[in-house]
Amino acid sequence: MHSVLFEGLLIVIFLIDLTIFALKRVFFGFRFDLPAVSTSVPMSKVFDYRGTEDFSSGGFRFPNPKDSSLLLPLGHHVDVYFPPRKRSRVSAPFVVSGEQKQKSSIEVLPDECLFEVFRRLPGGQERSACACVSKRWLMLLSCIRRDELYSEKITQSVEPEKRSNPKKEDMSSESEQKGGYIDSNEIKAEAEEEDQETEANGYLSRCLEGKKATDVRLAAIAVGTGSHGGLGKLSIRGAISIRGVTNLGLKAIARGCPSLRALSLWNISSIDDEGLFEIANGCRLLEKLDLCQCSTITDKSLLAIAKSCPNLTSVTIESCLNIGNESLQALGCFCPNLKSIAVKNCRLVGDQGIANMFSSAGRVLTKVKLQALNISDVSLAVIGYYGHEVTDLALTGLQNVNERGFWAMGNGQGLQKLKSFAVTACRGVSDVGLESIGKGCPNLKQTCLRKCPLLSDEGLTSFAKTAGSLVSLQLEECHRITQFGFFGILGNSKKLKALVVENCLGIRDTDFEFPCMSLCNSLQYLTIRNCPEFGNASLAIVGRLCPKLLHLNLVGLQGITDEGLLPLVQNSEDGFTKVNLSGCVNLTDSVVSAIVKMHGSTLELLNLDGCRHITDASLVEIADDCLLLSELDVSGCGITDSGIAALAGAVHLILQILSLSGCSSVSDKSLASLGILGQTLVGLNIQHCHGISLGAVDLLVERLWSCDILA
Ligand SMILES: *[C@@H]1O[C@H](CO)[C@@H](O)[C@H](O)[C@H]1NC(C)=O
Ligand SMILES: *[C@@H]1O[C@H](CO)[C@@H](O)[C@H](O)[C@H]1NC(C)=O
Ligand SMILES: *[C@@H]1O[C@H](CO)[C@@H](O)[C@H](O)[C@H]1NC(C)=O
Ligand SMILES: *[C@@H]1O[C@H](CO)[C@@H](O)[C@H](O)[C@H]1NC(C)=O
Ligand SMILES: *[C@@H]1O[C@H](CO)[C@@H](O)[C@H](O)[C@H]1NC(C)=O
Ligand SMILES: *[C@@H]1O[C@H](CO)[C@@H](O)[C@H](O)[C@H]1NC(C)=O
Ligand SMILES: *[C@@H]1O[C@H](CO)[C@@H](O)[C@H](O)[C@H]1NC(C)=O
Repeated sequence: MHSVLFEGLLIVIFLIDLTIFALKRVFFGFRFDLPAVSTSVPMSKVFDYRGTEDFSSGGFRFPNPKDSSLLLPLGHHVDVYFPPRKRSRVSAPFVVSGEQKQKSSIEVLPDECLFEVFRRLPGGQERSACACVSKRWLMLLSCIRRDELYSEKITQSVEPEKRSNPKKEDMSSESEQKGGYIDSNEIKAEAEEEDQETEANGYLSRCLEGKKATDVRLAAIAVGTGSHGGLGKLSIRGAISIRGVTNLGLKAIARGCPSLRALSLWNISSIDDEGLFEIANGCRLLEKLDLCQCSTITDKSLLAIAKSCPNLTSVTIESCLNIGNESLQALGCFCPNLKSIAVKNCRLVGDQGIANMFSSAGRVLTKVKLQALNISDVSLAVIGYYGHEVTDLALTGLQNVNERGFWAMGNGQGLQKLKSFAVTACRGVSDVGLESIGKGCPNLKQTCLRKCPLLSDEGLTSFAKTAGSLVSLQLEECHRITQFGFFGILGNSKKLKALVVENCLGIRDTDFEFPCMSLCNSLQYLTIRNCPEFGNASLAIVGRLCPKLLHLNLVGLQGITDEGLLPLVQNSEDGFTKVNLSGCVNLTDSVVSAIVKMHGSTLELLNLDGCRHITDASLVEIADDCLLLSELDVSGCGITDSGIAALAGAVHLILQILSLSGCSSVSDKSLASLGILGQTLVGLNIQHCHGISLGAVDLLVERLWSCDILA
């Protein structure tokens, strides 16, 4: 081994200058003005190409210049020709002790020597060009760390002990492909990639998915990106093939891309700690790490990353079976800038991990997402105590957290800056817990409560009273909540602007007398979706309480009728801008008429999808009174050609989107009207309009070329 190395180095001393010269000639002869060749050896002998017909002294002859798969764009201007089949063998005569020796191929050089040669290449473009020669060359080049490049510190003294030789074992797994050629598909892929380079802060970004994710691609990226800006962001998703990404590819990245800021690995089981150790060593500027379904990565390498990458600000760990408490602890301990953490479905993560992370990083963490973890009340208590900087907290599917945990979280008085709180499918959210959070988080603005089976009216009402900054509240699948809770919110929130109630089956229309409640003057956006028992009576109260609504979404409420909606329409003070009544099947023309009369001067969007009792009469009113309407959906309504004609006749109406899907009474007679409307339309939906013939559709498509037509 030593003698080989020694011999290699000796040869290198003689070869380097000549080889660099030769390489320049080979790859850049057609671009660079080189000094006239003054050696006595004729060029044709210096470059002994097996297939001489591929080589002409002026450069390369492209067999077919349009065959882009043979072109590897390396920079913005340089295209390098890569012959897919032919081996470019550079042979040079060299002189040892003044004695002419036999010609020898550069390929006989051991890796160590080639490595030394490559280290001395003058620049990134030359390295990229060499990387195209063979897989062996590419892999060797990708092993060179930035600080091992000779050219970049040619004027400095080189400390020999700092040079490291490429390890033999790095290459051994690829030995069967040693010296083989890069698959031209890789080249093609790399060429395509060039187009989608996004340059954020001057760094490049690459995403490899599925079959594209291979070590060769990574090595090519490692060698290629160095010369123009450096790689800033890398995503690798789901390597399926056997040729998929391994530690070797990550090593290349670690060595070639010290500027890497964001790394994302999804669904890769062929990478383990070894690969991440390399990243930890090579990419110390890492700021964002995203690991998903990487079951072979363990705490060991995450610990290394945490220790070496102090600028880590955002970490996501999902479904990583072997990542546990220690990783979180390390991140908290060693990453003073850790702002955002998301942990999902990691069976080894427990209270210890969350608690240790928060007790050390609680002063910087701002965004926290915890999902499907076996953590208990202890974790929530710790978050509530240490999470001084947390602004966004999302908890999902935490089955072992109980009422006590939420209570303790609010009571800890740490979450003073919490602005956004989202809980989904946590059985522990109870009245007591929610109330405690309302009290403990004075700056809470947005709250989303989904699938909280224990939460009841009482808790919701006192939450509305205590959470004085609340601006937006969303309730979904909280079935214990009834109309009392609903009005409890409206009556007690001082600043609530947006309320969404979705799929809450407990809200029903019973006869009840409400005590005189103060108006909810702040509410502007109201959505009630798929609460089938929400009816007339409730709606009438909403109308009384909320005079400032701008957006009204009542979706799929079969129980409401015109009488219920009318008070709301009439009490509105500022004028609706968007009204979505999709699926409220029992509404009729008279309420549309009222809406249009009252709000025609402000209304921009009206959706009556599926309101089958709506007829042409509504369209006539719309045509008469709507001044700003740009989006109209009357899909599934009982409209006909004369309604469309009325719309088309309204000169002031500038519709941009019109949906008539499923209006089977609209026929070819509407063709002219649709043509007129189409002059301003950007979208027209005439799906399932069985009255419109295929020929008419073709005509429309032809005439309304600036409008997207769904037919
Ligand atoms: C992850 O990769 C496996 C094959 O290795 C595939 O079957 C699975 O669908 C992938 N999962 C995701 C979420 O992409
Ligand atoms: C971390 O980032 C800051 C600026 O965001 C930079 O000044 C500093 O050098 C970085 N630290 C390391 C170790 O890269
Ligand atoms: C993580 O911590 C929890 C206790 O909080 C413990 O039950 C679990 O065993 C720990 N996991 C590992 C892998 O140490
Ligand atoms: C969750 O952790 C507790 C102890 O911390 C343990 O007893 C329980 O078996 C764990 N549950 C699951 C599903 O891992
Ligand atoms: C709708 O409300 C009106 C009064 O607001 C009432 O007379 C009518 O019966 C209600 N209809 C239904 C179906 O609740
Ligand atoms: C109206 O509601 C329906 C049903 O939820 C929805 O699909 C549609 O996007 C909504 N339209 C608008 C403009 O909000
Ligand atoms: C509303 O429509 C549903 C379904 O079409 C029907 O069952 C119900 O009786 C209607 N209610 C009223 C008040 O018209």
